[in-house]
Amino acid sequence: MSGPIAIVGGTGPEGSGLARRWVHAGETVIIGSRDAQRAERTAAQIAEKTKAGDRVRGMVNAEAVEASSLVVLTVPFSGQAAILKQLKSAFRPGAVLIDATVPLAATVGGRASRTLGVWQGSAAEQAAELVPKGVAVAAAFQNLSAELLDSQTPVDCDVIVCSDDERARRAAAELAEKIPGVRPLNGGKLENARIVEQLTALLVTLNLKHRAHGAGIRITGLPDRISGVGNTESSG
Ligand SMILES: NC(=O)c1ccc[n+]([C@@H]2O[C@H](COP(=O)([O-])OP(=O)(O)OC[C@H]3O[C@@H](n4cnc5c(N)ncnc54)[C@H](OP(=O)(O)O)[C@@H]3O)[C@@H](O)[C@H]2O)c1
Repeated sequence: MSGPIAIVGGTGPEGSGLARRWVHAGETVIIGSRDAQRAERTAAQIAEKTKAGDRVRGMVNAEAVEASSLVVLTVPFSGQAAILKQLKSAFRPGAVLIDATVPLAATVGGRASRTLGVWQGSAAEQAAELVPKGVAVAAAFQNLSAELLDSQTPVDCDVIVCSDDERARRAAAELAEKIPGVRPLNGGKLENARIVEQLTALLVTLNLKHRAHGAGIRITGLPDRISGVGNTESSG
């Protein structure tokens, strides 16, 4: 990546797991939080684990977004709309937002194995409605569990990337490819994120039924290795 990756909500297990993997891959990451000290604490923990203290910093979310053209969103669905409204003026013109939000019912006190109905169709489409004009959105990483990210081994999971914008799709695919074991797949338009988000609720059920923590997805019948760039030709 040409600049740092900002992670809004980067103090949680999903954001910090992604951050650690990307720092390991040589990227520079900014952990975003509503609280500067919490961001700095998480950044320090990742720096210690990765021995790459100069490539991970912590900042409040707005400063993180201002400092990067590539922003990853990993907050609970219940806070997604409000935080995006709050950050609207912080986005750089032409920035890319990669949304990993899943509208699990657990976010409002319901079951983690169910999703909430989202007026726009999906959390990712809601995000696209709320970012400033010119900011491109891709949905990715919703099926990649924090447990898997936290392990020291390659991740056994495909990452389906949905977007209406080729630049955003490519950025998400490139980020996915930086995580050992992950295969990015072109999932077509952003509206397909609603299907990908639903899969996460099913993965929660599978974890419960099989007393596991790291259920993920693999799509069969496709080439083993699909480049994030060559994979982007058709969408639908
Ligand atoms: N955990 C997983 O295995 C997993 C897998 C795939 C996708 N996801 C999705 O990724 C997102 C993050 O997951 P997570 O497990 O890391 O969630 P989380 O721990 O509940 O939240 C992540 C971070 O979001 C911030 N946050 C919490 N409430 C907020 C609010 N109302 N407004 C703004 N920021 C808020 C918090 O950071 P500060 O308090 O520091 O601001 C928190 O550390 C969720 O949408 C989840 O569905 C999770």
